[in-house]
Amino acid sequence: MSETKSIDPEMTDEPRTTTTGESDEELRAEWTAYDFEGDPKLSVDGLDVHYGDEQALHDISIEIPERSVTALIGPSGCGKSTFLRCLNRMNDRIRAATVSGDVTFEGRNIYEDDIDLVELRKRVGMVFQSPNPFPKSIRDNIAYGPRKHGDVRTGLLAKLTGRDDAAREEELVEESLKQAALWEEVNDRLDDNALGLSGGQQQRLCIARCLAVDPEVILMDEPASALDPIATAKIEDLIGDLAQEYTVVIVTHNMQQAARISDQTAVFLTGGHLVEYGDTDQVFENPRSQRVEDYITGKFG
Ligand SMILES: Nc1ncnc2c1ncn2[C@@H]1O[C@H](COP(=O)(O)OP(=O)(O)O)[C@@H](O)[C@H]1O
Ligand SMILES: [Mg+2]
Repeated sequence: MSETKSIDPEMTDEPRTTTTGESDEELRAEWTAYDFEGDPKLSVDGLDVHYGDEQALHDISIEIPERSVTALIGPSGCGKSTFLRCLNRMNDRIRAATVSGDVTFEGRNIYEDDIDLVELRKRVGMVFQSPNPFPKSIRDNIAYGPRKHGDVRTGLLAKLTGRDDAAREEELVEESLKQAALWEEVNDRLDDNALGLSGGQQQRLCIARCLAVDPEVILMDEPASALDPIATAKIEDLIGDLAQEYTVVIVTHNMQQAARISDQTAVFLTGGHLVEYGDTDQVFENPRSQRVEDYITGKFG
């Protein structure tokens, strides 16, 4: 036998690590089994996502309780945004993406062929990382969705046919802006261009725009990462309020934010695996996976 140094990981006592410094451990089903009271709003079962030949998510199964905040955390590139987009089929718009598995919303798999995607995305709305208001007035930003979906009818034809919903629209604009904690700041300038608002106000406007079509689930992909601390705090407060009525699923790379605002936390790690999912306090204070503990305590990521 020659005296070469063994590089077989099975032969050493050192924990094996991946290139990012994560220790190599087996995944355990019980780490993602989260018992909660009430019905799940969304159930994901055996979800795989590929971009071309690259697999971005592996066999994700998770149940998301209604009227609560679910945080998705994990290092960059672990599939958080991909997962979020699966929940209202936004990945359909990415040509390289193939999705398999089930996502059940209101008793139906949203990946069935005859699902109405416009209706789905109305009920499962999305707010993105950078605020993206339309270059229109504040009022028109909010009214856009309800007009498009035919919830309010305005304009000449509506007037001629006696079906003018201008008053209803006015109400909806006010209601949505109030729900998004923006009304006080903008009620005297609803006809100003939305692009004149600050970043934090624009993001709350985008949340109001999402609320205006009466969603049930709100998906947020790092909604505060482009904002200053004060604007971030306002968004965080708002998320807490929204969870009284809506099911909020939020991706954040900010672990303190996840710990502050969420009821349950799902930790995705390198390679696109869901490693741990549970009550937020449990995940942060007493993680079951060593890798999750290493991630939370800043050893990698
Ligand atoms: N549109 C896309 N086309 C090809 N690969 C993508 C696309 N979007 C994401 N990916 C890849 O999928 C993996 C997960 O990405 P993503 O979901 O954006 O992760 P995260 O949001 O956690 O940073 C990464 O390897 C990324 O490069
Ligand atoms: Mg992302």
